[in-house]
Amino acid sequence: MHGLFDHSLLVVTGKGGVGKSTVAAALGLAASARGLRTIVVEVAAREDVARALASNVAGVYAERALDERLHHISIDPQHAMEEYLRGALPLGALAALLSRSRIFTTLIAAAPGMRELLTMGKVWELAQHERRARDGEPYDLVVLDAPATGHGLAMLQAPRTFATVARVGPVAGQGRAIADFLVDPRRTAVLAVSTAEEMPVTETLQLRSQLGKQSGLDLSLVVVNAVVPHRFSAADERTLRAAPRSPASHAALFAATWTRQQHAQITRLRQSLPGVALVTLPFVFRSALDRAALELLAGEFEP
Ligand SMILES: Nc1ncnc2c1ncn2[C@@H]1O[C@H](COP(=O)(O)OP(=O)(O)OP(=O)(O)O)[C@@H](O)[C@H]1O
Ligand SMILES: [Mg+2]
Repeated sequence: MHGLFDHSLLVVTGKGGVGKSTVAAALGLAASARGLRTIVVEVAAREDVARALASNVAGVYAERALDERLHHISIDPQHAMEEYLRGALPLGALAALLSRSRIFTTLIAAAPGMRELLTMGKVWELAQHERRARDGEPYDLVVLDAPATGHGLAMLQAPRTFATVARVGPVAGQGRAIADFLVDPRRTAVLAVSTAEEMPVTETLQLRSQLGKQSGLDLSLVVVNAVVPHRFSAADERTLRAAPRSPASHAALFAATWTRQQHAQITRLRQSLPGVALVTLPFVFRSALDRAALELLAGEFEP
């Protein structure tokens, strides 16, 4: 985990439902607590991080301060496109016209990978020290709550694809700049979130190999989320199995089996990913993950 917060961009991905948004929120809290001006970014109009960290930030596709150093934005490709057209083309009036034209908008939105390109363009813009957005203040760190593995990888790849297809001109040039930033291990770190279960672990291993093939990057960190302490020995488990059936022995046996399997999957991860840093986050036994619970998880990212 050494140097994780020295990057400009942390990309958080992993299987659906494993806790990506929770981890992105916790990383945002951890980074801002270290004094970094941080923004947590959600995409495709999702607002799970916003809801977890604050209740009143929904529905606005703009940068919002949640705290002194912690900010949030939910990126909408349409807004990103309008911003891009305003700033990137030296054709003010034409750009405004184009961005209002429904046909053009529909065309753009239908081009495969265009939404991903526009989204990653905005993420890149947020991570620049010299912001292009009017009045944009620089951030020390951008935490991207990326989509689940396959779509997350496609999103990371979109700028390279467009640069290759366009070859020359402003789209190619910008696509290349964004793509180069995303594969620069000094600036971009990709984190995989997993739970300690067979399928998410398998997906994490696949993510690592596809990421390497696609961009040459390795995972900077694997976060194993929602881990329950394993407090039963093999002998305890045998005793429980032999004990007369009761609701209590049933529950204890369930807990013993569950936590044993979790820890076997953590061992599998460690053995399959030598050299990759791994952090475990505890299962939080609460009906909802409130700010206090997220602060607790954020504490696990201490060096
Ligand atoms: N460590 C934890 N302890 C207990 N509950 C957790 C923990 N981490 C996440 N959860 C809960 O699990 C659910 C899924 O978490 P989260 O929304 O962060 O997953 P996700 O990977 O972002 O999902 P999606 O793929 O839908 O975006 C949420 O209800 C969240 O509160
Ligand atoms: Mg999520």
